[in-house]
Amino acid sequence: MTTPATSIQPPAIQHLLPLLEQLTLDEKAALVQGADFWTTVPLPKIGLRAMTLSDGPAGVRGPRWDEREPSLNLPSGSALGASWDADLAYRYGAAAASEARRKDVDVVLGPTINLHRSPLGGRHFECFSEDPELSAGLAAAYVGGLQDNGVAATPKHYVANDSETDRFTVDVRPGERALRELYLVPFERAVEAGAWALMSAYNAVDGVTMTENDLLEDPLNSEWGFDGVVVSDWTAVRSLASVPAAQDLAMPGPAPAWADLAEAVRDGRLNEADLDRKVLRLLLLAERVGALGDGGPAPVAVIDGVALAREAAIEGSVLLSNDGLLPLGVASPVSSIAVIGHNAREARTQGGGSATVLPERVVSPLDAIRAAVPHASVTYELGAVVQDGVAALPLEHITNPRTGEPGLTATFLDAGGAELFTEDRRSTALVWFGGDAPVGSAERIVLHTTYTPEESGRVLLGFAGASHGRLFVDGELVVDDQPVVTGTDLGAAFLNPPSLTAAVEVTAGQALDVRAEFLLGDVDSPLTGVFSATVGIAPDDSDPDGLIARAAGAAAAADVAVVVVGTNSKVESEGYDRENLDLPGRQDDLVRAVVAANPRTVVIVNAGSPVVLPWAEDVAAIVLGYFGGQEFGHAIGDILTGDAEPGGRLPTTWPAALADVPVLDVTPQDGVLIYDEGIHIGYRAWLRAGAAPAFPFGHGLGYTDWTWDAIEADADGYAVTVTVTNTGRRAGKQVVQVYAERPDSAVERPERWLVGFAVVRADAGETVSVSVPVPARRLAHWTGEWTVEPGAYALRVGPSVAELPLRTEWTVDA
Ligand code: BGC
Repeated sequence: MTTPATSIQPPAIQHLLPLLEQLTLDEKAALVQGADFWTTVPLPKIGLRAMTLSDGPAGVRGPRWDEREPSLNLPSGSALGASWDADLAYRYGAAAASEARRKDVDVVLGPTINLHRSPLGGRHFECFSEDPELSAGLAAAYVGGLQDNGVAATPKHYVANDSETDRFTVDVRPGERALRELYLVPFERAVEAGAWALMSAYNAVDGVTMTENDLLEDPLNSEWGFDGVVVSDWTAVRSLASVPAAQDLAMPGPAPAWADLAEAVRDGRLNEADLDRKVLRLLLLAERVGALGDGGPAPVAVIDGVALAREAAIEGSVLLSNDGLLPLGVASPVSSIAVIGHNAREARTQGGGSATVLPERVVSPLDAIRAAVPHASVTYELGAVVQDGVAALPLEHITNPRTGEPGLTATFLDAGGAELFTEDRRSTALVWFGGDAPVGSAERIVLHTTYTPEESGRVLLGFAGASHGRLFVDGELVVDDQPVVTGTDLGAAFLNPPSLTAAVEVTAGQALDVRAEFLLGDVDSPLTGVFSATVGIAPDDSDPDGLIARAAGAAAAADVAVVVVGTNSKVESEGYDRENLDLPGRQDDLVRAVVAANPRTVVIVNAGSPVVLPWAEDVAAIVLGYFGGQEFGHAIGDILTGDAEPGGRLPTTWPAALADVPVLDVTPQDGVLIYDEGIHIGYRAWLRAGAAPAFPFGHGLGYTDWTWDAIEADADGYAVTVTVTNTGRRAGKQVVQVYAERPDSAVERPERWLVGFAVVRADAGETVSVSVPVPARRLAHWTGEWTVEPGAYALRVGPSVAELPLRTEWTVDA
């Protein structure tokens, strides 16, 4: 596949030609590569300042990974997917814009709009859905919310980065129809919504790495009319072959693969017009975000981010089942609650990897339940160990020996032991990923704190990291080793490294001097200047049966048990896929024991993507919280008490067992990953297999009842009006889902596919109608162009792909 050199300039760019003419070849070559990790090159002579790019997408971290500069932690992408609510996605984007401006960020690296092709994909928590239409609708809204507030969106990762195994090199073969009808659809709609940037993926498609792939030109530019900047995923630019391809900005920079760019233009290996095109697009982006000239950025909407985070967590929580126990206190009074589970006290509010943001506060379900049900007595039991490796020492138990304040000192030393840089930090989980610290030039980092434990006993003190470390406790060397890192993937090795610990006897209230030293520069990394380490305590898993027994005892003694189960940071993150869909540790045994002790048990599932729930039939109610962001606990409190109705509907099919899942393969063979299933992923694949999942796509209950009254196809076509009535006793939300069927089609099709959706809200007793657009394109299939097969289509409507009470028919003339 060769990419034609192209000099097409979108009309929006013509007025920037005079600026282009003022630039030298070297300036132009510098501008299309980052200045560093997160910023672009400034050119003051044409009034261009540096632009800052930042992850994204569930909040905005900012150019420094630093707990002293906290960010709003919004619910994960899959939680937003579960809301099915484009209006919410718009406000979510606007909240991200307001965070971006607060942190001087111009370009947010999100939304992540790859599809949930297989539930084993490690980064599913970041993506919206298994369905292209749902993902596309939310992506377009998110882009609008950001960009209407003057901040660029960067939908990513274009394209077919749907799993993580060998992500830098995997050659994905999706097949043309699947590419067009599934994987490209969310990008197409994000571009239609006006995306100012887009991120090219690490992987190859059909043998060509994405930063050099024709798909950057066609359909992105030529067919969809994209006039923005294609930003590479970090280090994804591999050679000068990406210059004639429509790859516009190499990040981070300066990019080694483009070091020779100006020279290659001079000696005729590359065409200057290809470089000019990139420069013009960067200038247009700069103009759009207010980085060019005197205008400055557009004003940004004022948003109560904390309130939005809570609302989004409620709207993204799915009530999977409920025998009437929820809301608590309605069926029978509740005066005592046993709260159980690691994730009840230490919920995961986001997945791992580059998407991580550092929130100012996190509300745990345990604290929120205590606050939401003040009259009830609330007990807590851990029940089962979930955490894998060390967790940071709590801030309230560490003192910085230099300042006397909560925290620690981090000191960077050169080879001779001279101090290069010191900073006072407020966390023992530290990542340097951009920022000012001399990670590239120092030889060692020393972390030093005083730890005062709350309880006496034996603890497993240690560190997580990718390089050699030495840990001293009260001056005594207790660990001196290098954790074994598998692979060199940035996400896996740096953001989720393995741990080493030593058993240490501690006494409550008695301070210990804790000092950890790490050798820099001995890590085989695709990026230099990056470092992460956590000093902390690993969980004690020496008596798992005892933990379960204590939890069952607490459940038996309470009116109601609330068990929060979930995944841990080693299960859902970036740089690797999942090996199975099980809850880690003994959590399934824990739930069974608690239910046996008290049938009035609610299980809250705290995971970013599907897990297998083998006890699902036995518990009174299941709430799926996804990774609900910093206000997750409050959302759970609101849902349990009935102050709010859980608004979510499954954006992805939940299987009963791994073996039932139709699309599982995420492991390339000889470097190639073939999407054998073609256009049948997610619920389409389940329908084709004739198999029933545990919970179907679109499923989710609320706290009220509905009737599905009527469907009417609009006279001039391409919309349906659906009428529903809230027959229950409280206001509620319903998601109207419209699916098409074409049973006797001449082409291979899914049995049924989503063509439109809308959120409706109604008071008790109220009847509401909503018009859902279904443009002809949503019935079309790809034959080298979009083709709508003539004949009759059934349009079926209901609350999930498996429950469709309303039906109408459309006939498309030949
Ligand atoms: C991820 C991107 C991210 C980038 C910068 C990459 O490893 O795949 O999603 O935006 O890092 O952190």
